[in-house]
Amino acid sequence: MSDHVLLVYFTHSGNTRKLAELLHEKVGGELFEIQPEIPYPDSYNTVVEQAKKEIRDGYKPALKSEIGNLESYNTIFVGSPNWWSTIAPPVAAFLSKNDLSGKTIVPFCTHGGGGLARIERDITKLCPQSTVLESFEVYGSAGGNVHSKITDWLQRIGVALQ
Ligand SMILES: Cc1cc2nc3c(=O)[nH]c(=O)nc-3n(C[C@H](O)[C@H](O)[C@H](O)COP(=O)(O)O)c2cc1C
Repeated sequence: MSDHVLLVYFTHSGNTRKLAELLHEKVGGELFEIQPEIPYPDSYNTVVEQAKKEIRDGYKPALKSEIGNLESYNTIFVGSPNWWSTIAPPVAAFLSKNDLSGKTIVPFCTHGGGGLARIERDITKLCPQSTVLESFEVYGSAGGNVHSKITDWLQRIGVALQ
């Protein structure tokens, strides 16, 4: 069976984009950046406060663009920074507005020391009809051994390298 892979991610300061690009090199497919219509402020303290309120309120921002042919993918990597122990609101918005029933979801995240926290659980909650595989997490922009960590993990979850 041919496996059509999509990698979607949100990033604020670039770490999750870097990880998404590394994964893309390994698994191929299409890469798509989830962007809110209104960008988050650059200032760390401002975005931390804004995100805290949005997550508390379950706010899901409008997104800048959509993926037209989602139905053609069967494996979707979903990447987010750890924001307040969960996925960033634009990722929650993406998962809420798109029907990923029957698809395989592969979560990945970058974080500042808190690891995956509730990320895998919260993705599973938003995608109850999807198969959610073991997640991948790295601290910040990922250290030197990230390549072998990625390869081991992909082998474990059974995603083919290109
Ligand atoms: C709004 C906000 C909330 C964050 N909350 C957490 C957290 O709860 N736990 C954690 O480990 N890191 C937290 N971080 C750090 C980010 O997860 C980390 O810097 C991540 O690599 C950023 O990814 P990005 O460069 O793709 O935006 C937070 C960062 C921001 C901006």
